[in-house]
Amino acid sequence: MIFDRKSRMAMPQHTVADTGLTAEALAAAHKHASHDRIDFWADLARHELCWSTPFTIAHSWEPPFARWFEDGRLNASEQCLDVHLKTGLGRKVAVVWEGEPVDAEGAPTQRRTLTFDELHELVERFAAGLTSRGIGKGDRVVVYMPLVPEVLVAMLACARIGATHSVVFAGFSAESLRDRVLDAGAKAIVTADGGFRRGKVVPLHENVRKVRAQIPAVETVVVLNRVGSSKGGPASSAPLHQGEVGFHELLGTARAAAVPVGAEHPLFILYTSGTTGKPKGVVHSTAGYLLWAKKSMAWVFDPRPEDVFWCTADVGWITGHTYVCYGPLANGTTVFLYEGAPDFPNGGRFWDIIEREKITVFYTAPTAIRSFMRQGNTLPDSRNLASLRLLGSVGEPINPEAWHWYADVIGKGRCPLVDTWWQTETGGIMMTVLPAMGSAKPGCATRPLPGIEVDVVSDDGTSVPKGADGKLVVKSSWPSQLRTVHGDPTRYANTYWGTFSGPGGTSKEPWYFTGDGAHRDEDGDIWITGRVDDVMNVAGHRLGTMEVESALVGHSDVAEAAVVGVPDAIKGTSVFAFVTLMKASKGRAEDESQRMRLETELRDAVAREIGSFAKPEHFRFTDALPKTRSGKIMRRLLRDVATGHEALGDTSTLEDVSVLSALQHYHED
Ligand code: WTA
Repeated sequence: MIFDRKSRMAMPQHTVADTGLTAEALAAAHKHASHDRIDFWADLARHELCWSTPFTIAHSWEPPFARWFEDGRLNASEQCLDVHLKTGLGRKVAVVWEGEPVDAEGAPTQRRTLTFDELHELVERFAAGLTSRGIGKGDRVVVYMPLVPEVLVAMLACARIGATHSVVFAGFSAESLRDRVLDAGAKAIVTADGGFRRGKVVPLHENVRKVRAQIPAVETVVVLNRVGSSKGGPASSAPLHQGEVGFHELLGTARAAAVPVGAEHPLFILYTSGTTGKPKGVVHSTAGYLLWAKKSMAWVFDPRPEDVFWCTADVGWITGHTYVCYGPLANGTTVFLYEGAPDFPNGGRFWDIIEREKITVFYTAPTAIRSFMRQGNTLPDSRNLASLRLLGSVGEPINPEAWHWYADVIGKGRCPLVDTWWQTETGGIMMTVLPAMGSAKPGCATRPLPGIEVDVVSDDGTSVPKGADGKLVVKSSWPSQLRTVHGDPTRYANTYWGTFSGPGGTSKEPWYFTGDGAHRDEDGDIWITGRVDDVMNVAGHRLGTMEVESALVGHSDVAEAAVVGVPDAIKGTSVFAFVTLMKASKGRAEDESQRMRLETELRDAVAREIGSFAKPEHFRFTDALPKTRSGKIMRRLLRDVATGHEALGDTSTLEDVSVLSALQHYHED
């Protein structure tokens, strides 16, 4: 991807003119934060959140463990629901939902709306149902559901009774689900008989049952009858077993009041990929997280009473937690949810939705934009997209070509486009361009929001000058930072806070390392250059190379595997796997049809262990992998080989140089 770091586009200003964050307000917030950062955050927390017990201690910091507003008490579901009933928004639509199924003409057959009153009632009743099954404060509940309104009910009901939710993306396999349930020590799972994806049913309940015997601590499985009850789906869902209860059966007449919890009470655990080992459970607090979900949403998307806000992420990812559930609802904004695939029944589904539902703010990922772009302009041009006023991008760097297409063909040059950089660990948006800045550079994450202190540093921690590349760090704690890795505080300390601490390591304060590389341009604006660790960003989904490797070596023919990410025109990055086979199986790589079969088996193994989205695109079977004398696989060289570059970097530590030339000349015979 080519980035032109000089090009600048004027930001349409209508968003700023009336209610949005003006340049003056933005400057004032930055000034307050740089003058007294803790006071800045405390001030926001006092004004933005509804406290049942106000806090007196704004911040405490025992590096690298942070606490914010710790003696305050509140409830996140109250902030998203009850608060709005008190201000007369009870009859306002909170959620608009559209299911994937379509009729013979291709028109959607399922749509529901829930007002804040209705959502509040469902949450209270579901929370009471959970309580009746012995679930309460301090318990963990895994949510494994399609994108239907009930997923928000489940999340908010957990929050209401002080249970910590852990949403597992419905695209994850039974094995991945099991690992997360075990790691979280979950007592209950909320799932559905299935969800629709590209016309097929995703068998969620079946996946839970597959691993049920391996997760004995789970006492209750709540099953929503989604597919069975939907027209066109199978007649009904399977009869329930012992320990399973229907979602609607659990909704009694009792209602649960919100249980105030301490500010630091874990609101949720969300698993994400790291460089080593199994995915880690990122733990977020209640108050700090909620504060930033609400305020970052307000600053970046400028929610207005008439908005219909659509963030296309699944709630199984952080973007869905913050900008489908907590951010919009905490601001009293109507949020739109779509269950299925963007290209079902055709590539115009998203544009149909925008026209039909009069979406005002649209927030999606570059991968989606690039795949729409490839289909041409006919579909979006034939729809009325005039309701849109603001566009957002998230999850990966957006290449200028996609940026311009998005701004021109979807935004018609009228809508500002915000490119938001953040991570599962940061809880909410950290850097973005804002309409108040007047202009945007396509592909540039630009500047941190007020209160967020980022820097681009060299390996010894020195700030890089303008025009140079380095690594992206955050130099002080912020309220919505992750608090720990569930069950593994050492991993938390090492992964995030063990790399940088001041220039030359001089500061007593450790800095948060993002794992991203960045460039500081001549204006001081920041460009994300991508991950610098062994995390890949495939179609906006985070994936550890180790996870894929361990799925591959699980195949009986595989001796060793090494995985790297390679640039992909649509997905940003695709997975390239180098595989060495067991001696007895070597023949399988030599015969074309056997090799194809083997590749299918290996892709299936990855789909089974992780999920279909993690399947390698490319394979190369080789006799040996390039290793250092101490036995470490040299991924850098593999990356060069995979991208077809001559491996020109330093190869002096390579144990056997002939391995590399064998790899490079693989396809030349
Ligand atoms: C990448 C998603 C460039 C980055 C919210 C980060 C981005 C990782 C952007 C986090 C952006 C996210 N420009 N890169 N606007 N947004 N990233 O945890 O590499 O799924 O570290 O959170 O996505 O992915 P995660």
